Amino acid sequence: MAVNSRKVVIVGCGFVGSASAFALMQSKLFSEMVLIDADQRRAEGEAMDIGHGMAFASPMKIYAGTYDDITDAAVIVITAGANQKPDETRLDLIRKNSAIMKSIVGEIKKREFHGILLIVSNPVDILTYIALKESGYPANRVIGSGTVLDTGRFRYELGEHLGVDSRSVHAYIIGEHGDSELAAWSDARIGGLPIHDFCELRGHYDHDASMDRIFNNVRNSAYEIISRKHATYYGIAMAVCRICSAIVRDERSIMPVSSLMTGEYGIQDVVLSIPSVVDANGIEAVVPIELSEKELDALRNSANVLKKIIQENS
Ligand code: NAD
Ligand code: LAC
Repeated sequence: MAVNSRKVVIVGCGFVGSASAFALMQSKLFSEMVLIDADQRRAEGEAMDIGHGMAFASPMKIYAGTYDDITDAAVIVITAGANQKPDETRLDLIRKNSAIMKSIVGEIKKREFHGILLIVSNPVDILTYIALKESGYPANRVIGSGTVLDTGRFRYELGEHLGVDSRSVHAYIIGEHGDSELAAWSDARIGGLPIHDFCELRGHYDHDASMDRIFNNVRNSAYEIISRKHATYYGIAMAVCRICSAIVRDERSIMPVSSLMTGEYGIQDVVLSIPSVVDANGIEAVVPIELSEKELDALRNSANVLKKIIQENS
């Protein structure tokens, strides 16, 4: 069956899935949205509630469906699975969520599906690797939201620090979406200027202290939010919307989604985030940005952390 570029499926309608559905409904990117959850009534309730906002946005079909509804979808967003408790890391979720991911991909695989799998559930890099292996789809079609959210947080923090629109900040968080991630400082540009030059333009000279503070704020964001409100969902919902837009509008946007590494920086057979060109086919190309030796070491360490988890759980 041909792919309908105006159709999206969301599997998992908890905080993240429902916030993503709400953001996608407002984005007007799709004309049909299917919500699937192990708790069918939850999916029905979300479809009703979000559907009632349609009169203030634009018309679309939104309904609680089944896997039989996936076949012509352009994107399946998977947000099903447990979220972190305040004392848990993302990697602690692997046991609970790998079984859930395998069962969902098993259902998808029983049907014809030619679109893009967008994995959001945590630990997102490991679950994207599992989805890739279980589905047997080509690597360009199985992508994780990766550090798109962390990069949004990084751009927000830098924008606040320097008093500029965060959209004028070009700087990435790469590696694991989690504790071993890193900031690619050596590649960071603001309005085209190298970051330290821009900082000095704004009267900031204490680079090391500011870089530490900003990166720690980014890396600890989820812990800080979860300790206050038990879950994170609005930021990731906007990130999901942004990634879906790049896919269905064939934008060729560069964003740090996570994908299978095949030798970039000497890293392979692990899924992590590097800036990548995203288009209608998913990952069109990985962009190997220049990294310092220290950043390269940190990226390889991040890859090793993820590989160890994959080995321990396979
Ligand atoms: P939640 O508990 O609110 O929702 C999870 C939903 O998944 C529930 O509605 C549950 O019924 C459903 N579910 C469980 N097993 C299922 C299955 N087999 N099939 C279909 N549905 C199933 O959790 P949440 O806060 O929405 O978080 C969901 C996931 O997203 C977590 O793993 C969380 O860590 C992750 N997350 C990722 C990012 C990111 O940047 N990648 C950001 C925030 C949250
Ligand atoms: C985040 C989730 C918890 O907000 O991964 O970063």
